Amino acid sequence: MAKLPEFLKMDCYVGGAWVAAGSAERLDVVDPATGESLGSVPRMGASDTQAAIAAAQAAHEDWSGRTAGDRARVLNAWASAMRDHAEDLAQLMTLEQGKPLSEARVEVEYAASFFSWFAEEGRRLYGDIIPSHRQDARILVTRNSLGVVGGITPWNFPSAMVTRKAAPALAAGNCMVLKPAEATPLSALAIASLADMVGVPPGVFNVVTGGREDAPVIGKAMIDSPLVRKIGFTGSTAVGKQLMRDCAGDLTKVSLELGGNAAFIVFEDADFDAALEGVQICKFRNAGQTCIAANRILVQESIHDSFVAALTAKAEQIRVGHGLDAGVSQGPLIDTRGLEKVELLVADALEKGATIHTGGARHAAGGTYYQPTILTGVTSAMDISHQEVFGPVAAIGSFRDEAEAIAMANDTPYGLAGYFYSRDVGRIFRVADALKTGIVGVNTGLISTEVAPFGGVKESGIGREGSKYGIEDWTELKYICLAGLGAVA
Ligand code: SIN
Repeated sequence: MAKLPEFLKMDCYVGGAWVAAGSAERLDVVDPATGESLGSVPRMGASDTQAAIAAAQAAHEDWSGRTAGDRARVLNAWASAMRDHAEDLAQLMTLEQGKPLSEARVEVEYAASFFSWFAEEGRRLYGDIIPSHRQDARILVTRNSLGVVGGITPWNFPSAMVTRKAAPALAAGNCMVLKPAEATPLSALAIASLADMVGVPPGVFNVVTGGREDAPVIGKAMIDSPLVRKIGFTGSTAVGKQLMRDCAGDLTKVSLELGGNAAFIVFEDADFDAALEGVQICKFRNAGQTCIAANRILVQESIHDSFVAALTAKAEQIRVGHGLDAGVSQGPLIDTRGLEKVELLVADALEKGATIHTGGARHAAGGTYYQPTILTGVTSAMDISHQEVFGPVAAIGSFRDEAEAIAMANDTPYGLAGYFYSRDVGRIFRVADALKTGIVGVNTGLISTEVAPFGGVKESGIGREGSKYGIEDWTELKYICLAGLGAVA
C-alpha cells in the first residue's frame, strides 16, 4: 500500500486544534479497491459539531474584518500548499476513493484552482451606488459575509467539492464547518492540515467527520444552530430536499448541488471521432460516478450502429484495476451499495428489452469492480433512464430527429448537465437553448472548471458554484440609506 502523507492527521480539525469525538468513537476508512483499512477518524456528534460552530463563530469577527487582500493572501498560500503536496494528495484520494491516479492528479489541481480563483474574486465583491429616491440621500449596497456556514460534501470528488464550497465562503469572509462524506474524510482532513500549515487562522475552517448514521446528527446540529446562516450541500436530491425543508425553520440559506440525469446527444452531423472521445470521458470518468455523467446517450438513427460499435471497442480497451497501478483507467465503485444499484439498473434494462454489447456484470477483479458496459435499446420504460447510474454503464437509445432528441433529453425532473455534438451552427444554438439544464456541453464531454458556474435547474439544485457567480451565494446584500445630506445652499 502507498504511504499516507506525513502531514495527514486523523482527528477532526476544530478551532485550529486536532480533536477526537467527545464519545471517543471512531470510524474506519477503507480503500474501496481492497477493503483494507487506511486508518480511522472521529465519529463526531451533536455537541462536537456545536463546538466547531462556536469555534467558527469566534473566528468570524476577525476574519470578516480583514481586507479581501489579506484573505486572498491566506487562500493563495493554501492553494500553493495543495500544489506543493499534489502528489501526496492525489495518492491519498486514489486510496480512499478509488479513482485512477491520473484522475486524482487532475482533481487536486481542480481543487486548488478554487482557492486561487476565489482569492481574487473576493477582491472583486463590488457593491453598488443606486440613484437615490431623495435629494438628501445616497443609496449604497454592499455585499457582506453571512457568518458561520456549513459545507456537506460527497465522496465522488473528495477534494474539489470541499474547496468549491470553502474557497468562496472564506473569500467572502465567512467561517466554515465542513462535514465530508463518510467514505472519504481523509482528503478533507489533509486539506485542513495544509490550512494549519499555511496559517489559516484557527476557527476559520473546521472539519467534523462521522459515519452514515452520524451525518443526520451533524447536519441537524448545523441546521438547528442559529449561528449557522447557510449550508452548501452536494449530494442526492432526496437528501437535498429534506435539508431544504429542515432549513426552513430559521430560514437558513441553502445551496444545493444535487442529482443529475444528463442526456448526451450525438447528431448525425457531429464530428464522429470527437463525439466518441467526448462520450468516453463523460461516461467513464471516475467509473461513471459523477453527477454530470452521460446518463442517457442518445444517438441519431443513421449513425447509431457504427457509433455503438466504435464505443464498444473503446470500452473493451478500458483497463480496470487499482487506481495506483500504472495504466489503469477505471477503479472500483465506492461500495457494495453502489455496485448493487448498478446491477439492479442493468437487470431491469435487460428485462425490459435492452441489449448488452460488452460488460454487464461484476468484474473479475472482484470487490466492487464493475465491467465497462455498453447497453443499447434503452427506452424511457427502463429505470436506468430515470435514475443516476453512478457506474460505468453506457445506456444508449436512438432518436429520429432534433425535436425527438430534445423531448427525450428533457424528459426528466433533473436538470444539471446536458451535452450534444453537432457541427450545424443553427442547431447548436437551437438545442443549447432548448435543453432544460444549468450546464450545456456542446462538442465536449468535459465542462468542469473553476471559472464557470456549476449548478442545476429543476430538481438538480439551487445556486451555482465556481465562477464570479459562485461567491454571491455566500454573501448577503446590505442596503444603506445615507440620508440627511442636505442640499447645496
Ligand atoms: C460532480 O459530479 O458532483 C462534480 C463534477 C465536477 O465538478 O466535475
